[in-house]
Amino acid sequence: MRKVRILVVDDDERNVVLLTSKLQADGYETDTAYDGLEAITKAESFNPDLMLLDVMMPKIDGHEVCRRLKASEKTKYLPIIMLTARGDIEDKILGLDVGAEDYISKPCSLAELSARVRSLLHTRMLQTRLAEMEKLAALGQLVDGIAHELRNPLMTIGGLARRIKEKITDEQAQGYINLITQEVERLERMVERVDEYKQAQISHLKQEDINEIVKEAVEEINNIAKVKAIDIRLSLMQAPPLLMIDKVNFKKVILNILQNSIDAVNKEGEIEITTMPSEGGYMELVFKDTGCGIKAENLKNIFNPFYTSKMTGAGLGLTIAYKIIQDHNGDLNVESREGKGSMVSIKLPI
Ligand SMILES: Nc1ncnc2c1ncn2[C@@H]1O[C@H](COP(=O)(O)OP(=O)(O)OP(=O)(O)O)[C@@H](O)[C@H]1O
Ligand SMILES: [Mg+2]
Repeated sequence: MRKVRILVVDDDERNVVLLTSKLQADGYETDTAYDGLEAITKAESFNPDLMLLDVMMPKIDGHEVCRRLKASEKTKYLPIIMLTARGDIEDKILGLDVGAEDYISKPCSLAELSARVRSLLHTRMLQTRLAEMEKLAALGQLVDGIAHELRNPLMTIGGLARRIKEKITDEQAQGYINLITQEVERLERMVERVDEYKQAQISHLKQEDINEIVKEAVEEINNIAKVKAIDIRLSLMQAPPLLMIDKVNFKKVILNILQNSIDAVNKEGEIEITTMPSEGGYMELVFKDTGCGIKAENLKNIFNPFYTSKMTGAGLGLTIAYKIIQDHNGDLNVESREGKGSMVSIKLPI
């Protein structure tokens, strides 16, 4: 993993050495600049996560550097801590006015430096996470809107295609029509799945017996499994502790996972479902199948929305499952070997 990078800017060599050795001891990667111009160049080339910036420097002073960095699209989100002379209130105010996030008085206590750096990085991390969540929510709304706009035209296209099919005898044209119908069905399924995704957004947790939910889900899907001669075997722990679960959503998770296992089995096969206590105060629910497995290079994509390897898949089953398990404060993992089968594990806190 990339280390957090801090750029230290000061024309006083001794101060630079002092600050960088403390920051390195705290586990950060550092780079240095000795005047304002170098600071601006390195703010772009070193790509730091935070900058310590002295005010008094030759060529351009710290305030001007800060003003320029905050005006540039590339560097405006770089958090800056100004190093100001002790007692110089005007310097501090000016620093904040030109956009610096914080200041430390020189000569500074190294413990204070560590604490301020840590706190600023933490705030920035929370801001970034919030921005990502907002972006995802906006994207979700967009996808939802598109899905709904698709519904009516799809019905028209599908309906008319079926009518044309009844009227024509030409074999090649029939083939084309079949293709149209198939693709329309695929899109219709996608719209349905987007709806399902939206419905699964909120979980209401209540105390539930996980074994009971597993049994209900298996009963619902057993007929589909039997068509392929797939044997679903249960190995459930006796009297499991009650867990905080949204039953409707959790059943959806189980059904999605089982459907994937059924899809993965070509003719006959086996699915084994186990519940057991797991370390750290968790209950574990494991699904093992004897299906086709997943190639190592595809494994990293399976939770991505719309990733699918199937002709008629929407690629939303695991995305939905992952979201629901997150809302249960749990963990969802998939291990698989191509040709050997897959194992899906869910951990829920007790
Ligand atoms: N048990 C499994 N065995 C083999 N491949 C799997 C298994 N579970 C998931 N996959 C792979 O992960 C992909 C994504 O699964 P996901 O359930 O999200 O979408 P999907 O099944 O393709 O479509 P959808 O569930 O929306 O109808 C699948 O297309 C498949 O390639
Ligand atoms: Mg699926």
